[in-house]
This record gives sequence, C-alpha cells and structure tokens, in this order.
Amino acid sequence: MKQGYKIAVIRGDGIGAEILSEGEKVLEAVSELEDFELEWIEYPHGAEHYLMTRELMGEDTLKELERCDAIYFGSIGDPRVEPGVLEQGILLTLRFYFDQYVNLRPVKLLEGVRTPLAGKRPEDIDFSVVRENTEDFYVGIGGRVKGNGKKRDELEIERKLYNIKFGLDIETDADELAYQIGVVTRAGCERVMKFAFELARSKGKKKVTSVDKANVLTHSYGLWREIFNEVARAYPEMDTEFNFVDAICMWLVKNPEWYQVVVTPNMFGDIITDLGAMIQGGLGLAPGANINPDGVSMFEPIHGSAPKYKGKGISNPVATIWAGAMLLETVGEKSASEKVLDAIEAVLKEGKVRTYDLGGNSKTSEVGDAIVSEIRRQD
Ligand code: IPM
Ligand code: MN
Repeated sequence: MKQGYKIAVIRGDGIGAEILSEGEKVLEAVSELEDFELEWIEYPHGAEHYLMTRELMGEDTLKELERCDAIYFGSIGDPRVEPGVLEQGILLTLRFYFDQYVNLRPVKLLEGVRTPLAGKRPEDIDFSVVRENTEDFYVGIGGRVKGNGKKRDELEIERKLYNIKFGLDIETDADELAYQIGVVTRAGCERVMKFAFELARSKGKKKVTSVDKANVLTHSYGLWREIFNEVARAYPEMDTEFNFVDAICMWLVKNPEWYQVVVTPNMFGDIITDLGAMIQGGLGLAPGANINPDGVSMFEPIHGSAPKYKGKGISNPVATIWAGAMLLETVGEKSASEKVLDAIEAVLKEGKVRTYDLGGNSKTSEVGDAIVSEIRRQD
C-alpha cells in the first residue's frame, strides 16, 4: 500500500486561500511522482468563520487536528476583526496547543532573486533562524489596570494587588497601567537550543549564534544565555557566539554571510525574520515551519493575509509552496521536498514566470503551474 498523509488545510484570511491552492497543487504533483498519497482535510477557520459563528478554534477541532500528519496554513488577519483576536485565537492557539516549540525560518537568497543588499550574492545569504515558539512575551500573561469607568480607590486596590502579585513597588497616580510578562523556562530553552544545534550538525554548518538582550533583560535572557552555554557543551565541534538583538539587526544587513544557524527567543525571532525575509528578496519568498518534532507540525508563509490583494490572484505563492516543501521534509518525504525546492529555484532563476513583487506580471496560479511543470521536467 502507498504511504499516505492526512494534511489539514486552514486557508484563513485574505490571500490565504489563493496561495494555499498553489501549494496543494505542487504537493499533489510531487506526490504522484514520488508515489505517496495526500489526503486534504479542509477547515474553515478564519475571520469569515469567526464573524459567522463566533468560533475561533474549538476544542473539537483541535482534537480532530491531532489525528493529522501536518497542518498547512494560509494566513490570518482581517480588517473587520480587532487586531489580536484571530492571531491569538487561531494561529497562536494552534502553535501552543500542539506545542510547536520550534519556528524554523530559512533565510536563503535563491538564484535569480534580487536582494536589496548591495553586492550580496546567494552564497552570502543562507542561514536558518530557529525561533523559540511557545514562550517569551507570547505566553499572554499580563493585564491592564484601566482608568476608564473605575473609581480611584478601586484602581488603588488593583495597583496594590499587582504589586503583591509581582513583588513590585509601583507607586503611581497614573490611571492606566499595563504589563505583559515574558517567560523563559529551562526546559523550553534546552529543547529549542538542542534543535538548533542538531539542525546545524545535520546541515553540516559550523556555527550557532544565540540572540538575546541579556544586558538589559537580565533575568529572563540571563537564564537563556546560561542554558545556551550548557547546551553548547554537547556540541564541541560547533563555534558559538552571542549577539544582542539590536546588534544582529545591524549585522544581518551588513554581513549576512556570518550567519549559519541563529537561535532566538520568540519575539526577537518574530522581528529578525521579517528582516530576514527582506534580505532574501521579500515576504513573498519567506516560509516558516512551526515544528513539534514529536507531534503535529504546521507550515505557513511568514507573511500576513494582505487583505488588499485578496481574490486578485496576483500574490506570490512561493513562500507557501516552500513551506509545503518543509512540510514534506518534516513528514519524512525528503526527496519530494528537494524536488519542490529545486523546482522553485529553477523557476526563479529562469525568471520568466514571476509575480509583481519580483518585478513580473504573472498570476499566482501561473507560478504554481510553472513549478509543477518544472518538477515534472526534472523528473
Ligand atoms: C508571525 C506573525 C505572528 C507572530 C502573528 C500573526 C501572531 O507575525 O508568524 O511571524 O507574531 O508570530
Ligand atoms: Mn511576524
């Protein structure tokens, strides 16, 4: 019997549907050549579904998704819904529920793609960012002490309770106060750092860079740093270094060739991977994998839902198709995954079929078609 995989499809919002269709098309094509089967299971979650039903991501759906081999995700965000609702209620819920503690984001300048960095070539921009994906400022611990509609003495009580809860001594007359706590755990650091070192080893890389802000956020990133040093001891062949997050933003622009594998706390990873996307040619080319090595992983482009472009059929599907290649690699179809990536590279290098963001005028579906033809041609 053929090997088969159940893939949950969550198109989400904006351009999510149209780019994901191209991903499915390409994965379907390569599955025929490589002789495995893909079963696609559609889920309607996103803004439209939320506005109709008030459901973001229910317990029942999560239980069903547990039985899938992977989740293929489009994009999330809609102007009709307040920022944060869909992001937290759908995307972050999935990352946390499935404990996808690695957010792996390759930053690679493919041939035929222009980087805004003068004088840098494909061999200069080729590293992986391993972003911690379940801790830091993303845990959602926090609150607001609001002035609006509250009496002064009520506010006073809230402030005192807050001081007790967090062992602080804030004395303020300000009516409003907000706080959000970043959490770093030993177990959380160890597992993501081990993943980064193993990745470096498996890809024949020689250096792992750790990102933090241990000079200011001494508690949380102090622990992060200590654990990095501990984990590094098990990989004596690997060079290691620390970069402060502000400094790496600078060096990634000036000397991207220094980097091979970068491991970073969640929020800094969010920021530096958008920078990474730009130096690899744009958001339309940047894929991401939310990985739980022992569970269900989820694959998505790192860009958002681009509501303006919804339904126009002109958005670049390459990030999503590349994320599909990462999906194949993660479920164990390495050769299929390589075929997809080779075809993406060939199509970009040839340069005939490309979307507007890369200076072309091809449609989303034409890019998918070109990649499919290329896969068949190379076979
Ligand atoms: C990303 C996005 C998300 C994040 C948002 C949509 C919650 O920006 O995947 O990078 O911050 O992780
Ligand atoms: Mn982001």
